[in-house]
Amino acid sequence: MKALVLAGGAGTRLRPLSHSIPKQLVPVAGRPVLFHGLDALREIGITEVGIIVNGVGRQIRAAVGDGSEFGMSITYLRQDDPLGLAHCVMIAQDFLAGDDFVMYLGDNIFAGGLLTPMLEFQTFRPAVQLVVTRVDDPSQSGVAEVENGRVTRLEEKPKQPKSDLAVTGAYFFTGEIHEGIRNITPSKRGEWEITDAIQWLVAAGREVRAHVFEGFWKDTGNMGDLLDCNRALLEGLVSDQRGSVDGSSEIVGPVVIGAGARVEGSRIIGPVIVGPGCVIRGSDVGPYTSIGAACTLTDAGLQNSVLLDEVSVHGVRAIEGSLVGRSAHVRRGPLRLVVGDNSRLEVPL
Ligand code: G1P
Repeated sequence: MKALVLAGGAGTRLRPLSHSIPKQLVPVAGRPVLFHGLDALREIGITEVGIIVNGVGRQIRAAVGDGSEFGMSITYLRQDDPLGLAHCVMIAQDFLAGDDFVMYLGDNIFAGGLLTPMLEFQTFRPAVQLVVTRVDDPSQSGVAEVENGRVTRLEEKPKQPKSDLAVTGAYFFTGEIHEGIRNITPSKRGEWEITDAIQWLVAAGREVRAHVFEGFWKDTGNMGDLLDCNRALLEGLVSDQRGSVDGSSEIVGPVVIGAGARVEGSRIIGPVIVGPGCVIRGSDVGPYTSIGAACTLTDAGLQNSVLLDEVSVHGVRAIEGSLVGRSAHVRRGPLRLVVGDNSRLEVPL
């Protein structure tokens, strides 16, 4: 079985970060979101992967390379305009060659992996095996109506959802999906919707099944969801100390300290990941915090946050629920702001 991983998309809800980094490369729990997805695919035995990128996809190619680091062989496929998920399958037709495949949306996180739905797909051999999950507001997703594991109807972002089962970003397909795609036209938002192609198969009487995923699932489209993913993935953290911690520091709970990092006179409450080459001095960090490589924190306080690489924080103690982009500097002083396009700031009165 192959995988088709979708790593295009504009990432509008993650601006300004997504102006300079594809949303799939934003790290959660110390690794880019996309890497967690590739790990999940490798775990179910998939080694042949096509990745759809926007245009040349320079940053994604640089980060993932030929896939050998993941034990995979990767083919890059280019989508020049965001014309929908079914359009990605059309672009990948030669790569897929009519074989079974799992389509995986590269901004999705499934904690606990995809083994159970894949086994269900292999056991029942339906035309399509969806992975669905119960959500409070299904109107923002594809919504499946399901009877005894079989999908009876599928709708894309309905105003009045008929069930609370949202379609997640992992789809197991046989070659029959190509027939569904040949029978649809673009939706009102101008996209070739995979939901419509699957619904065509349902209406044609083909077997479409849904596995109800019970673990933690999110699409990391916005900052709140990204921090939720960071917390969920940090839950399973195992301590690993490669850098140095001096005698006046205190480390509590699961904490990873990367190679060459130095922790001095600080308190770190896990789960926390400190990236390689960081310097943390006189600071309180954690819980639920991931710090990228080569960051410097002095007299800082930080919890429930994600810092990308080379961030510095000096003299600011009440940072929480924050996402800080590469090489950003945060320091105490009069309120003077240099803020990127589409940023959001919350300033205490
Ligand atoms: C897409 C699908 C939708 C699915 C969602 C999962 O939505 O069209 O059915 O529920 O991914 O992440 P989009 O992210 O394109 O709005």
